[in-house]
Amino acid sequence: MIRIDVPLDSRSYPVVVGNSILSEFQSLVPPEVSRVAFVTQKGIDVSIPTELPSSIHYLPDGEQAKRLSVLEDLCGEFAREGLTRRDLVVGIGGGVVTDVAGFAASVYHRGVQVMHVPTTLLGQIDAAIGGKTGVNLEEGKNLVGAFWQPCAVICDTQLLTSLPKREMRSGMGELAKYHFLGGEQLDALPLEERVAACVQIKADVVASDEREGSTRALLNYGHTLAHALEIEGSFDLRHGEAVAIGIEYAALVAHNLGRIDEARLAEHRRVLDVYDLPRGLPEGSDIDHIMELFHRDKKALTGLTFVLDGPNGLEVVEQVPEKVLRLALTQI
Ligand SMILES: NC(=O)c1ccc[n+]([C@@H]2O[C@H](COP(=O)([O-])OP(=O)(O)OC[C@H]3O[C@@H](n4cnc5c(N)ncnc54)[C@H](O)[C@@H]3O)[C@@H](O)[C@H]2O)c1
Repeated sequence: MIRIDVPLDSRSYPVVVGNSILSEFQSLVPPEVSRVAFVTQKGIDVSIPTELPSSIHYLPDGEQAKRLSVLEDLCGEFAREGLTRRDLVVGIGGGVVTDVAGFAASVYHRGVQVMHVPTTLLGQIDAAIGGKTGVNLEEGKNLVGAFWQPCAVICDTQLLTSLPKREMRSGMGELAKYHFLGGEQLDALPLEERVAACVQIKADVVASDEREGSTRALLNYGHTLAHALEIEGSFDLRHGEAVAIGIEYAALVAHNLGRIDEARLAEHRRVLDVYDLPRGLPEGSDIDHIMELFHRDKKALTGLTFVLDGPNGLEVVEQVPEKVLRLALTQI
């Protein structure tokens, strides 16, 4: 088992990574806890043995779960179970479950402790670590939420064996981005070490910028085009697949700006191909509409802003010229 610490002063916590390690659960429960509320989904068949009284709460599947009404129902269930402010919420699932369980924990009794047991690759290397929680509004994704760090995270890679192939591939899209955040040789590692290496990179970034004032934004590599494709909504793309296309696009933009050479562009393509990820715009993409969505991006405060590779690695680059962005959309 590999242990990585997320160092955040009094809110520091361990992330443990390994195969078949759910027996670690009890030792990671804070001592004052007298009841546990497990939050999960029906399709996720994971049960965690505990000596403490516990209840289990099921969320709907998919983004439908990330609604304020679901949060209200969940907190109501906690109250009926008698969960107190000294007790523990445990999210067992993908990013949807840990986002909702984490947000519920952040507001129930004005904040109770939460532990995450991510069961998707995307959850283990990204969503469950770093304390971002939240739900969607009609007006947009993740518009309401809180930073609420877990007390521990258990990444049991055995849980990934039941994950549908497409969900695994989606996780690979997020994994690909870590290659450009210091994880160059990730694809040479066995799965547990690969997950642990990604967790270490994310832990370092979160420790240096918990609330996304600066460097944490680099974790959004590939996400500007990915979000545009997701908002467009008519494409059959999982999040990580959209990120993969976004990474290829960001590399093309960087190359067109002279920030990276041919070899570095080829390295981006090698990594995406290793994980069998898509690299091209989906059929039917409308370049004008994508440009419009770029202008609406949260980061576009002072002109069109992208995370781009360059001689010093990934950087947030403001005021990327519109014609460079349009050109790259025709090249992808
Ligand atoms: N908080 C963050 O920092 C952060 C970061 C990235 C993504 N996210 C959020 O994560 C969400 C996406 O998460 P996701 O990709 O994990 O998808 P997901 O949570 O929707 O899970 C995908 C599907 O796999 C099923 N599933 C999960 N684990 C399984 C298992 N072990 N075996 C079989 N089926 C299983 C789920 O029930 C679901 O149907 C998005 O809402 C996104 O906004 C959050």
